[in-house]
Amino acid sequence: MSKNTLIAPSVLAADFANLQRDIEMINNSQADWFHIDIMDGVFVPNISFGMPVLEAITRHTKKTVDVHLMIVNPDQYIKTFKDLGADILTVHYEACTHLHRTLQAIKAQGMKAGVALNPHTSVDLLEDVINDIDMVCIMSVNPGFGGQSFIENTYVKVKKLKDLITRKGASTLIEIDGGVTNKNALQLVEAGADVLVAGSFVFKAENPIQTVADLKQLTTV
Ligand code: DX5
Ligand code: ZN
Repeated sequence: MSKNTLIAPSVLAADFANLQRDIEMINNSQADWFHIDIMDGVFVPNISFGMPVLEAITRHTKKTVDVHLMIVNPDQYIKTFKDLGADILTVHYEACTHLHRTLQAIKAQGMKAGVALNPHTSVDLLEDVINDIDMVCIMSVNPGFGGQSFIENTYVKVKKLKDLITRKGASTLIEIDGGVTNKNALQLVEAGADVLVAGSFVFKAENPIQTVADLKQLTTV
């Protein structure tokens, strides 16, 4: 049985002065999802964009909208992100004191619930909550910026997480976020990744549509 790896271009690397053009380009590509990074300047040392821009983006997206919240107190905005068109809402483990409650609140709004782990956060910490998580996003860079280089320890984390998911009989997807290129994509999929986020590698390429197609082909194993 062949594995269909999902490709999720990160809009953070798009040309913000030509957002609609870049969104249509992803609509017309083989990409599966839109990955959208929301940064608050508190949880991470950068501010990306907020609700009005997200609203403008989702007016044009024709694929699954995967929203990655790099913000403190995500609970207070769950309904807002649903209303803005999020299909998957990912919060950071490090930003949630009551993670189980947050996951239930996301699902109660009809969205898939994701949990992102910073590079220093062990996948073992998800042991007691893995069956409640639709997707784990393993950060393969420190969150806050696009265009950083991939942290090699990620492969070990993916394998460990895959083992945990299998052992617990969970159906959680594994997403990788940060520094994904054609150099590490296949190895990530072989380790257990289901979804690859790619920002700079797609949007800064000479031919983004072809780059997505190549990533898709490379990771269909
Ligand atoms: C990093 C963001 C990533 C980023 C990925 O904080 O969460 O989604 O946009 O960009 P690249 O692929 O350029 O590392
Ligand atoms: Zn992200």
